[in-house]
This record gives sequence, C-alpha cells and structure tokens, in this order.
Amino acid sequence: MAIREIKTIGEDVLRKEARKVKQFDKKLHQLLNDMAETMRDAPGIGLAAPQVGVLERVIVIELPEDEKDPQSGKLFEFVNPEIIRRSAEEVEGEEGCLSIPNIVGDVWRAEAVVVKGQDRYGKPQRLEAREWLARAFQHEIDHLNGVLFIDRVEGVDKLRRLVKVVDEKGEEHWEAISLHKLVPA
Ligand code: CO
Repeated sequence: MAIREIKTIGEDVLRKEARKVKQFDKKLHQLLNDMAETMRDAPGIGLAAPQVGVLERVIVIELPEDEKDPQSGKLFEFVNPEIIRRSAEEVEGEEGCLSIPNIVGDVWRAEAVVVKGQDRYGKPQRLEAREWLARAFQHEIDHLNGVLFIDRVEGVDKLRRLVKVVDEKGEEHWEAISLHKLVPA
C-alpha cells in the first residue's frame, strides 16, 4: 500500500468525467488499497479516484465509528457506483473535501439513496444509505462526474474557511469563519 498525492482544486483531473472500470485486476486492487490508505492518512471520510489523479469510476468511504450508526466504521469500496434511487426528502449539511483544503460549505442532498455498483472483483453490490453515508456517496459520485461540492453550495454565505485559532489556554483548535470576514476592509 502507498499514500498517493491528493490533487487539489485547479487541477484539470478534478473536472473530468471518469471512465467506467472494465478490468477487475491487481492494478484496481492496488488503487483501492492505496485510496483507503490515503483517505485514512489525510484523514478523510471518502475519496474518489480522480482525487488521486486516476480517471476511473472508483470510490472509497469510511465514516468514523459511532455506536449509534451501524453504517459507520466500515470501509465501503464501490467500483462503477450509480445512484439508482434517491429520497424526495433533502437535508442541508456541512461538507468539506480533501481536494479543497480548509473550506467547508452547506449542501442540500437527498436524505437517503440506493447505490448500485460492483466490488473489487466485479461482483454486483447494492446498498441503501441514509444521512451521512448517503451524503458521502452523493459527494464521492459527484467527483466521478467532475462535480465538486462548492458547485452545489447556494452562495458565498454558505461557505466558510477553517482557520486554526489559539485559545486563552494556548490550545489550538479549528474554527469556521465566514468568507465575508476574510475580505480585507
Ligand atoms: Co471531495
């Protein structure tokens, strides 16, 4: 396994349509292994192949372990994923992206989706996802079509920048600041 370089906004590969995977070979397994390692190292909760410069329809997702959510803490690998059903109900939630460092924004997404695709061996798989997992699938599948979450943010008011601040105790933590506040007076 190896950690791969994460491409950031401005690089063309993030804006292209990824190709369908046809060969379920060693090279694909290496890519999936590396993507999981790169995601965990970052750390992040999802990664799409174009983010490591590979224009193929491959994603990995792993939500942090949470005892209230049975879909958390599990590594999902999807090859050629497709959303085949989405709930009419949408929810707005905060997203970030490893390819857009230190920016978060509020995005409306379907509350639940059904995803169809293949595993690393080409075997069909299907999954019903809700809440954060559904959001993660929608975000990662967007990457395969060259779409970034900032494209779905309704306006600058819904974008924030993460800045490191030091509190009175000298402890560092991250704070989300409105982009308006960064505009020099
Ligand atoms: Co992303």
